[in-house]
Amino acid sequence: MKITGRTNVVGLIGNPVEHSFSPPMHNAAFRALNLDYVYVTFDVEPSNLKKSIEGAFSLNIKGLNVTIPHKIEVMKYLNDLDEIAQLIGAVNTIDFKNLKGYNTDGIGAIKAIEEVESIKNKNVVIAGAGGASRAISFYIAKYDADKLTILNRNVSKAEKLSCDVSNSQLIDDVSFDSISQIESYLDDADILIDTTPVGMDPHINDEPIVTAENMHEDLVVFDAVYNPNETVLIKQAIKAGARPVYGIKMLLYQGAESFKIWTGVDAPIDIMEDALRKTLNLK
Ligand code: ATR
Repeated sequence: MKITGRTNVVGLIGNPVEHSFSPPMHNAAFRALNLDYVYVTFDVEPSNLKKSIEGAFSLNIKGLNVTIPHKIEVMKYLNDLDEIAQLIGAVNTIDFKNLKGYNTDGIGAIKAIEEVESIKNKNVVIAGAGGASRAISFYIAKYDADKLTILNRNVSKAEKLSCDVSNSQLIDDVSFDSISQIESYLDDADILIDTTPVGMDPHINDEPIVTAENMHEDLVVFDAVYNPNETVLIKQAIKAGARPVYGIKMLLYQGAESFKIWTGVDAPIDIMEDALRKTLNLK
């Protein structure tokens, strides 16, 4: 990639950032479309967050992804928030044209799932009630699911998230329960989303949150964990003849959405996916 006097800078702020898979993914896309952009990372201490946003704006940086630990705090320093990002209460993408914050994590999961099944009118079960579940749950509601059930170990966290999603009035039927009851929800479910870290490297042999015997063949099973590619849950989905959706797809589509926000151009999905697979050492 040739850096010129006109090259536009986008990037990632977080702490840490050095293991990010985003630079190769975005830079491959810029190269493929001949866009004069470069994606770099910035390791920012929490105490420097305000200064770094002001500085990025002053330096005419075009856009930033935001990761742990800044996704919530950063909202204070923006002029505008996308409606769903505001409901989620977290931002992972900033467009410096208008200093506006977005959350493309949730939409990344939706696009990943919609490669195999539309969300509209579906019965969706989501495991976990942390940051990832929150981002995805509001988008499930926005994309017109019929019913959302939030299951968590700590039931009061599932209750709180369920209340927040219900209050958004994006969906009528939202409920919650203990994750220990998951088996009883899957017969009627169309889509299962696992946002827990169960099965994540190095714990690749964890007990999955549910096994093949409790899955039906039409069930879509999405695991947000991308390392390993084939998690214990995805293995169970394959064994059941259900329809697996791999975590890498969420990474891919959250990146593609950010790309579109910054450049105004549709992301070259195949190019980004190839770069991501290479970075993650997948075929
Ligand atoms: P993220 O931002 O990835 O969502 P998080 O906010 O820390 O991370 O949330 C992790 C979620 O995974 C939580 O819902 C957590 O459940 P608790 O609220 O009960 O802690 C869930 N989780 C973590 N480890 C788990 C395990 N071994 N089994 C089931 N759920 C687990």
